[in-house]
Amino acid sequence: MEVSWNKSFFEIDQDLLAPLYAKAPVDFVKGKGSYLIDAEGEKYLDFVSGIAVNSLGHAFEPIVKAIREQSLKFNHLSNLYPSEAQLKLAEALLENTPFDKAFFCNSGTEANEAAIKFARKYFNRNGEAERVEIITFFNSFHGRTFGALSATGQPSLREGFGSMPGDFVHIAWNDVEALQKKVHSKTCAILLEPMVAEGGILSLAPEMVKAINEAREKHACLVIADEIQTGMGRLGSLFAFEKYGLNVDLLTMAKALGAGLPLGACLMRQKIADQLKPGDHGTTFGGNPIACAAGLAALEVIREKDFLNTVQERSEQLQKGLQKLLQKYDFLGEIRGDGLLLGVTSDRAVADLIASAREEKLLILRAGANVLRLLPPLNVSEQEVQEALEKLDKTFAKHV
Ligand SMILES: Cc1ncc(COP(=O)(O)O)c(C=O)c1O
Repeated sequence: MEVSWNKSFFEIDQDLLAPLYAKAPVDFVKGKGSYLIDAEGEKYLDFVSGIAVNSLGHAFEPIVKAIREQSLKFNHLSNLYPSEAQLKLAEALLENTPFDKAFFCNSGTEANEAAIKFARKYFNRNGEAERVEIITFFNSFHGRTFGALSATGQPSLREGFGSMPGDFVHIAWNDVEALQKKVHSKTCAILLEPMVAEGGILSLAPEMVKAINEAREKHACLVIADEIQTGMGRLGSLFAFEKYGLNVDLLTMAKALGAGLPLGACLMRQKIADQLKPGDHGTTFGGNPIACAAGLAALEVIREKDFLNTVQERSEQLQKGLQKLLQKYDFLGEIRGDGLLLGVTSDRAVADLIASAREEKLLILRAGANVLRLLPPLNVSEQEVQEALEKLDKTFAKHV
C-alpha cells in the first residue's frame, strides 16, 4: 500500500493498522515531563501516562541516562546467560517486598500467565495435581492472552474466541460469602487486583481482605495479586497489597515497571520457586536489559525518601479539587480510587467528556462504563494538578 505522508498520523493509522483501538485524532510527536506535544506544538497535560506506564513523565533524565548507558553495552542478551541489569532490578524488587525470587517477562498479561502456571505447577509438583481451580472476580481485567483472558471477569472480552482454558471461577467483587462458598481444599489460588482498575476503579473492602487472608490460611491456597496497574507506587505505597494488608504468594507487575519500556515480572515466595525447573516456562525477550536498567532507575526514584508521601499529597489535592467539582456539577457521582489512580463517575457519556477534555488540552481516560480515570505521572507537580482541575472544570462546564 502506498502511504501519503501528507496525511495525519491518525489517518495513516486507519489505513495501516488493524482496527483494534478507538484512537483519538491527535498526533503526538514528543513528550516532556507531564506534557505531550502534538505536531502543531500544542501542549497537552498528560493524565493518562500511557495507561499508568510513564509514571515519571516523559524524557525523565535518570531514565534516559539508564537506557543510553545500557544500550551502549548491549540491547539484548537472552535468558541463556545471567544479566546484570535483571539481577540488579530483581535485588531491588525483592529487597522491598516479602518475596524471594523473580521471573521477568514483557507485559502484564504474560506476568499473569506466568503466575497462573507457577501456582498450578507448585501444587502439581507438591503431589496435589488436582489443585488447578483459580478464583477470580467479575469486573477484573488480567490481560488478553488465553489464560489471563479466561481469568478476566468480563465475559464479553472472550466472545468469539472459542474455548478458553478452564478452571477459573468468577465471583462478585467484595462478595465475602461467595468467596467462602467457593474456596475449598482443592482451590489452587485466588487471583485479584487489590484495586480493580480497568473494570471501574473498585476498592477492595477490608472484610474481603480478611476473608482472603483467612481462606489462604484455612485452605492452604495461594493468593496472586495482580498489581500491573496498582504497583510501583501508583497507590501511594510501593505495592497496594502491603497498604491493604493482603497476604500474597505471587505478585505480578508490568506497566510502570519498565518506566516506558515493555517489562513485566512475577515475584514469588521461595516454596513456589522450589517447585520450578529449567524449561517449565520461559521467554525470549523477557527481562530485556534496557527495560530492566530503566526499571531500576525508576525504582530508585520511587524509593527516594518522601517520594511516596508526595504521591499521597498530590492525591489528596486532586481529590479535594474533584470534590469541589462534584458539588458544582450534578452529573458527577462519586470519587473512586486511591493514590494517583483516581476516578469520577458520571451520568454523561464518558467518551464525550474525554474528547472535551482533550479540547482543553487535558488527556484523561475511561475505566469501566461510566468512570473517568485520572492517571497523572507520580511526580506530577502541585501546579500541574491545579491546572488539571481547572481544565476539568472547563470540560464539565461544556456538558451542563
Ligand atoms: C490489572 C491489569 N492486569 C493486566 C493487564 C494486562 O497488561 P498488558 O496490557 O501489559 O498485557 C492490565 C492492563 O491494563 C491491567 O490493568
